[in-house]
Amino acid sequence: MQRFDVIVLGAGAAGMFAAIEAGRRGRRVLVVDHAKAAGEKIRISGGGRCNFTNLGIAPERFISRNPRFALSALKRYTARDFVARVDAAGIGWHEKTLGQLFCDGSATQIVQMLLRDMAAAGVELWLGCTLGEVRREAGGFSVETGRGLVAGGAVIVATGGKSIPKMGATGYGYQVAGAFGLPLVETRPALVPLTFAAQELEWMAPLAGVSGQARVSCGKTGFDEAVLFTHRGLSGPAVLQISSYWREGEAVMLDLAPGVDVGAVLRAEKQAAGRAMLRTALGKLLPERLARHVEAAAGVTGPMAEMGRAKLDEVAAMVQRWSLVPVGSEGYRTAEVTLGGVDTDALDGRTMEAKGVPGLYFVGEVVDVTGWLGGYNFQWAWSSGWAAGQVA
Ligand code: FDA
Repeated sequence: MQRFDVIVLGAGAAGMFAAIEAGRRGRRVLVVDHAKAAGEKIRISGGGRCNFTNLGIAPERFISRNPRFALSALKRYTARDFVARVDAAGIGWHEKTLGQLFCDGSATQIVQMLLRDMAAAGVELWLGCTLGEVRREAGGFSVETGRGLVAGGAVIVATGGKSIPKMGATGYGYQVAGAFGLPLVETRPALVPLTFAAQELEWMAPLAGVSGQARVSCGKTGFDEAVLFTHRGLSGPAVLQISSYWREGEAVMLDLAPGVDVGAVLRAEKQAAGRAMLRTALGKLLPERLARHVEAAAGVTGPMAEMGRAKLDEVAAMVQRWSLVPVGSEGYRTAEVTLGGVDTDALDGRTMEAKGVPGLYFVGEVVDVTGWLGGYNFQWAWSSGWAAGQVA
């Protein structure tokens, strides 16, 4: 049986980062993954440019049963630390919006940087290799793999969540946690488009492809970002963000002209050009197809001069307080991340080690820490992987 100091399960962002750090400390490290290539989600992330971190890291931008759990790792290995590594690798980057940092070129540059760093740290990488049971043994653990049983003093579970099974997501990490008696927080797809019932889709379908800035909220939480109407419902950054907070049966509220007093604008437009159609006035605030849609939905057929104050207010409310009840989401098939996972109560926030199971660590998405859209999830993967890599 081959022996290693550290066996990392999963060659994604968190696993590779943990392996590099442990390898740099002189530990003999093995990384095992059933995928044919390492870092596949990094490769496709950020539309192929990898939104690798965010300058606005703050605890309230992470969802967890214990939102403060992530703080220790995030403070010890920061967005600036990762940027310094990207700079040292000569990878160009830019800030797109809202503190989101993207590669100027391709996301594969990040994967290559991590592969180079792993090789330099002497990390062994087994790709296309299945994983089986992890067992406690004297002096550490044994792990069943497609290449036979391997022994490790420490095991770092970095197999991610359930999102995008087509890319190899399995939920394996939750099974390992369960086998060691660690509690799990219920999982659900997050950062995912929301879907609607046939009766809503009927009127939404003609809007498919329309996008614009909006405020999308659910309860007290709201996001001012782009919204996209699709054939299945609603997508775009603002909708993906709110999907992490939305629960079945709740309504989401759309403000299609955030920061604008639409009622006042419509009254002024009516005064200035009463013979103009409502869609023309709305077209100054909304994409044209949406403006026409609101006009039709409000049952307005004549010029604005024929509209009374109550009707103008009704239209303004349609634009700014549009309440919709999704029937569900597109699920793990398209979700960018998985909410829930290994309960943080069972982990040491400084090291990611399981309390009561010395030598067993959980890092990245498998843990009940889920970031907002915008580079937060990769930063969690880097920071938590780094934390485990310092001690495993
Ligand atoms: P990750 O899922 O990356 O890695 C887990 C690894 O474990 C995989 O290589 C998998 O093959 C392996 N594995 C799983 N089960 C196994 C088993 N049973 N046996 C063997 N191996 C197994 N985030 C962000 O911050 N910025 C962004 O731009 C994006 N963009 C983005 C786009 C898309 C389309 C998706 C789906 C996701 C994003 N994300 C993102 C989220 C980000 O990709 C995610 O948070 C991290 O990849 C999580 O890193 P982990 O290493 O924890 O898991």
